[in-house]
Amino acid sequence: MKEQFPILETLTYLDTAATAQKPLRVFEAEHTFGLTRYANVHRGIYAQSVLATEAFEGARAVAAKFIGSTPQEIVFTKSTTEAMNLLAHTLPITKKSRIITSLLDHHSTFVPFQQAALHAGAEFVVLPLTKEGALDMRQAKKEIEKGCDVLAITQLSNVTGEVIDVEQLAKWVHKQNGRIVVDGAQAAAHLAIDVSHIDAFAFSGHKVYGPTGIGVLHVQKDVLSTLSPYQFGGEMIDAVTIENTTFREGPARFEAGTPPITQAVGLMEALRFVAEHRDLQEKERDLIAYCQEKLVRMNATIIGPEEKVGCVSFTLPVHAHDVAEFLDKEHIAVRAGHHCTQPLHDALGIPASVRISVGLYNTKEDIDRVIAALKACVEAFDV
Ligand code: ALA
Repeated sequence: MKEQFPILETLTYLDTAATAQKPLRVFEAEHTFGLTRYANVHRGIYAQSVLATEAFEGARAVAAKFIGSTPQEIVFTKSTTEAMNLLAHTLPITKKSRIITSLLDHHSTFVPFQQAALHAGAEFVVLPLTKEGALDMRQAKKEIEKGCDVLAITQLSNVTGEVIDVEQLAKWVHKQNGRIVVDGAQAAAHLAIDVSHIDAFAFSGHKVYGPTGIGVLHVQKDVLSTLSPYQFGGEMIDAVTIENTTFREGPARFEAGTPPITQAVGLMEALRFVAEHRDLQEKERDLIAYCQEKLVRMNATIIGPEEKVGCVSFTLPVHAHDVAEFLDKEHIAVRAGHHCTQPLHDALGIPASVRISVGLYNTKEDIDRVIAALKACVEAFDV
């Protein structure tokens, strides 16, 4: 596996939750496409443009299959963040609406819906956590039953590593005739995804071993057909006159301008790579459990419930930024800070935490290295 990732020869990379390293085959796919098939898509009559369009639409089909969706329900965006902004702007939110999110949510989900609620004068509800730091499902049910127009929530916390039962939440939300919007940025890299019960689901290319600058947004077709355009420009129009413009139906309505063509080809290869290595996702879980056990033994305070996927965040008596700087000197990359979840860190009463996150390429040796370096760090700071 590591031969696909030359960058890992000198770096112990434990920051996959921020962005995954790309395998050589993703670079090669982009390179070959750029050298042999590149042109703008959907516009040209010439053969090269037809080839590029086939590749781009092929990527849409692969993205759809990856999450159990259909190509007619897949909008290519720039990122999960852009997808959440698109939804927060286009779903009907009025002053009578009740918008629900949670303390676990990344700013990219939390803030667009918070701002949409503020703008409309809608009620904005933030679901709490249990004492153990898990999403409080009892409270979630109660809050949703009070009324829910939109529930926007992560499927896998980028801090606690908790997997959220979005299928159960969807049942409660749909009883209220609401919509469930799922941030799948972390989930898509670690779990098999099935969007069949979800109104909208978004993930980013760069977190699933693909390129930056491309994201995937699934919107269930009956919902998609009710949304107004988010951005205007070329390709999303049906007909333009001086007086007015009509717009295309389906995903094209939300893909104004030249899309991320080469990135779509890279993403397609990345998704194939993940699909071929599903077996290693079990190993990722074992690595996090192993890491957590070692951290507990060195008296680190772990954030969130014991059952974790993809990452473990913790505090030590040394400030999180000092820990990350110490590890950097050992060529070990981890994230320190609030991980784009300030409300969560405020609720925990801590300014920052250290996060170790893993990908398909990590090994037990990587975890042993970081644990040894953390022990050395604690000793060096004499705490
Ligand atoms: N969302 C990314 C992270 O959690 C950037 O690190």
